Amino acid sequence: MDAHYPVMLSEVLEYLAVRPDQVYVDCTTGLGGHSMEIAKRLTTGRLICLDADRESLEKAQQRLAEFGGRICFRQSRFSQLRQSLTDLGVDRVDGLLADLGVSRMQLTSAERGFSLMQDSPLDMRFDRSTGQTAEEIVNFSSEHELADLIYQLGQERRSRKIARAIVRARPVKTTVSLANVIEQAVPRAGKLHPATQTFMALRMYVNREIEELESLLEQVPAVMAPGGRAVFLSFHSGESGITKKSFQQWAREGRAELLTKHVVKPQQREVRENAASRSVTLRCAQWRGPASGPNEGSKRGAQTKQEER
Ligand SMILES: C[S@@+](CC[C@H](N)C(=O)[O-])C[C@H]1O[C@@H](n2cnc3c(N)ncnc32)[C@H](O)[C@@H]1O
Repeated sequence: MDAHYPVMLSEVLEYLAVRPDQVYVDCTTGLGGHSMEIAKRLTTGRLICLDADRESLEKAQQRLAEFGGRICFRQSRFSQLRQSLTDLGVDRVDGLLADLGVSRMQLTSAERGFSLMQDSPLDMRFDRSTGQTAEEIVNFSSEHELADLIYQLGQERRSRKIARAIVRARPVKTTVSLANVIEQAVPRAGKLHPATQTFMALRMYVNREIEELESLLEQVPAVMAPGGRAVFLSFHSGESGITKKSFQQWAREGRAELLTKHVVKPQQREVRENAASRSVTLRCAQWRGPASGPNEGSKRGAQTKQEER
């Protein structure tokens, strides 16, 4: 599979309904797969590319160099969204994209510590300049704390057994040694490696993914221009539930219209080509009020659809 494969690309573009003169923010730039397609559709508009991961951003910047001043890049966590936009002189955006989770580049990188298939130090931080590493969590948390985070974030029923085995095996320094400790403690059931859920839980804990997502969702209403659209892609049921709650609240409060009454799933063809996309769900909300351009927001989506067909 192409390392730059952007998930649900055609659906993201359809729901964002990019207009050439407007302002967009990609909160999860990664390698810039979605950003590139947004940038191609801009003339006088602007795209702000954010990500917590400096290394990904640098790669994205190289890939998107041809778009010059139309795009700017900034290392920024979700919790810094408003501040980052203010620093860049942007008050409101017409489109916001959040493609949550981890990128394929991060997963397959030999030294980032996200993957149980590649032996590397247990790091797992999106932003390697700050915060605790997975190694610190694994070696210095109590058995009880480990069991709780593996259960809550990894939805792993065997969390107590796994936590006990980890504590007995300490110090555990690398991804493969952690995967082996878990595999010895709990039997393999089905295709999934028995350490998969624990690795996901550690990554989510290290990067405070739930807290960051909650902070992002809190800031969205303050940064959306009237008629603007926010598109969220989630892979994890916990993330999906948190996103759904905020979307429903915006709709209840009359701030936004939900353009996806039910979540949108990837087409079967995409799932066949990219198995990692099988659990993704897309949600889109459009802010109330007149759009800033000549076409009112929801008409804009319909027009774009017709133009694209
Ligand atoms: C699934 S990838 C995005 C891939 C991207 N859409 C593409 O097409 O290349 C998710 C990205 O979100 C970033 N990320 C995750 N949590 C973040 C946070 N709290 N703040 C900023 N970026 C975050 C990760 O570093 C990663 O690069």
